[in-house]
Amino acid sequence: MIRFDEKTKVFHLKNEKVSYVIGVLENGQLGHYYFGKPLTGALMPSYFRADQNRGLTAYLKEGDMAFSLNLERQVYPSFGRTDFRTPAIDITLSTGSRILDFKYHSHEIIAGKPKLNGLPSTWSDHASDAQTLIIKLADDVIQAELELKFTIFKNYGVLARSAEITNYSNEKMRINRMMSFSFDFMDNNYTWMQYSGDWVRERHLVESSLRRGTQSIGSLRGASGSEHNPFVILRRDDTREDSGEALAGTLVYSGNFLIEAQSNSDEQLRFQAGIHPDHFTWVLERGKSFSTPEGLIAYSGAGLGGLSRTLHDFYRNHLIAKRWQEKERPVLVNNWEATYFDFDEVKLLELAKEAKLLGIELFVLDDGWFGNRNDDTSSLGDWTANLNKLPGGVKRLSERINDMGLSFGIWIEPEMISKNSELYKAHPDWVIHDPLRSASHARNQYVLDYSRVEVVDHIYNQIIKMLDDSKVSYIKWDMNRNITEAYSAALTPEHQDELYHRYILGVYDLYERLTRRYPEIIFESCAAGGGRFDLGMLYYAPQAWTSDNTDAIERLKIQYGTSMGYPLSSMGSHVSASPNHQVLRKTSLKMRADVAYFGTFGYELDLTKLTELEKETIGAQIKFFKKHRSLIHHGDFYRLKSPFEGDRNQTAWMVVNKDKTEALVAWYQVLAQPNEKSSVLPLKGLCEDCEYTITGYENPVDASILMNFGLYLQPAFNGITKRNESVGDFQSRIWYMRKTIRD
Ligand code: DGJ
Repeated sequence: MIRFDEKTKVFHLKNEKVSYVIGVLENGQLGHYYFGKPLTGALMPSYFRADQNRGLTAYLKEGDMAFSLNLERQVYPSFGRTDFRTPAIDITLSTGSRILDFKYHSHEIIAGKPKLNGLPSTWSDHASDAQTLIIKLADDVIQAELELKFTIFKNYGVLARSAEITNYSNEKMRINRMMSFSFDFMDNNYTWMQYSGDWVRERHLVESSLRRGTQSIGSLRGASGSEHNPFVILRRDDTREDSGEALAGTLVYSGNFLIEAQSNSDEQLRFQAGIHPDHFTWVLERGKSFSTPEGLIAYSGAGLGGLSRTLHDFYRNHLIAKRWQEKERPVLVNNWEATYFDFDEVKLLELAKEAKLLGIELFVLDDGWFGNRNDDTSSLGDWTANLNKLPGGVKRLSERINDMGLSFGIWIEPEMISKNSELYKAHPDWVIHDPLRSASHARNQYVLDYSRVEVVDHIYNQIIKMLDDSKVSYIKWDMNRNITEAYSAALTPEHQDELYHRYILGVYDLYERLTRRYPEIIFESCAAGGGRFDLGMLYYAPQAWTSDNTDAIERLKIQYGTSMGYPLSSMGSHVSASPNHQVLRKTSLKMRADVAYFGTFGYELDLTKLTELEKETIGAQIKFFKKHRSLIHHGDFYRLKSPFEGDRNQTAWMVVNKDKTEALVAWYQVLAQPNEKSSVLPLKGLCEDCEYTITGYENPVDASILMNFGLYLQPAFNGITKRNESVGDFQSRIWYMRKTIRD
């Protein structure tokens, strides 16, 4: 997959989905030639190189007017030697100079994908599934070596990149900016698509045309955040869901990030992603190395749908831990919206009993089980059971629940501390705060200084004590606030700007230790809902709580948006009570489940208050989900109607399994329409020359009709729903299809 031409000094990384071509420029730096649809034929650098005979610019060599970095497209640019654009790397030397000049030194091509030290990253478990190019660059003046790593994977239009610098000089140096990737594209004719949102309305899709100058998204919260997400799509202006070219840039990282596009006066585009350079510096001592998180860039020539399916498959096979690839995700019930803090063992066992009768597989105990926690003002940091609520501790509760035939899961928020806690009494300096100022709180809580290994050790020891003692098979790892007054009592002044990154390394350290020790425990990440829904988290926790907003109508936008960048198997989605606790909207149990099926399914309501009819309905829903969960979690996802486009009144999507023998189609309508016109929903992804039986349809229908004419939606026509269920606001329908065997 990776070739190097010694004569032309061109590297070509290629598979059947993508080509990436780079080479050594005449000054020794690396030039970017091409990224996109696979190329064939001779790759002559002169063909790709910039026209240097133009404009008024600055030239590198005296007497020579033919080489300016400002006109060159580059792989990992630095500032100050004729390039005036934003650099990928910026370092201050002990002399005060920030001029860098990294030149090609050597390279190696290795089978597979090396891990990144201390950071989550994509992986490949067969040497033949991926190849990695490691290019070493050296700047002899500053005596530092830069290693750029590029991995291409078999069958995926995805490239992984990262950079590592080692200081071989006798002086320390300060890294001010070091991005995971940088690409210089020929033109800027793209529409920039990003997630935008807030708590309870995460990952809504917004887009705008690229303009000259700089466009970016980023986070300085210490977490990727609900507001923005480390994920950007650059689509060609005419690219739509099913056609056209699109690129996705993203990061396997959960801390402060920046994704940036800069168009220069030639309307060429520099696209970069990495740790946010604001409030970040890293002192690189002699002999030490620093590695960026991994950045991913994906290419699709098959529209946004093709891009999403590439990413979904790629994450399922090269990011999420292998053990969760095939294992079925349990149907769970979580007690949060059923009880909030007001529960005891008796109440929990009542809920669990009902859960078992309904067919639920996992009982999850949420916040409020530890210390003296009866509201959000206390006990974070004290991870021992509240014996008033759980007289036999987590041990007895978990055993009793296991004895009922249910697995047991538990909530923790290990990065946080309450002032009203034993931990705070013992270690007030473990709070991230500036000693000269008061510490700001959010939800009455403070952030533990995870840059300190003794803090991580202490929390680790408390948690393993609880886990070793009990029968736990699931952990919901919550994180309900962002970092303020970012200052660590343990860091010297010159290292203070390392805190945000050191913090997230501490979080990864705890995740790494826990997931290694308990490989059978499934983790679900959560940050007040979807406030840290990113690839760094997904590496450790194969599912994430998508949003605290469980209203079926709001979830259409959240789940549709999230599907653009993340697979359905990563999206925690539950049926909650009606009226909904977040927006007070009333929707049917059917509609709520029809939306929640397309994720990791569960319930979050008081099961002891259900009517007999509701119990019957829920029992049937659970059976339905269990029957189809493998299709939902491993199939190809197609978006059919967007809640962000047109009148936004309808949403539709479908999942088709890999061999196209089964499909599940879902259609949702927000408001009823007067004298509703009959309409059809054209389907996608079915086997072209096949016919399918469809629930509610008497005769099989040909895929060519379903995909070109569409699936008839008019309730009276298809007769699959009862009249009383199929009118009014907030409607949904689901069809299961199976390919027939033709004689
Ligand atoms: C925020 C989470 O998103 C909720 O699901 C719940 O776990 C609460 N925290 C508990 O405090």
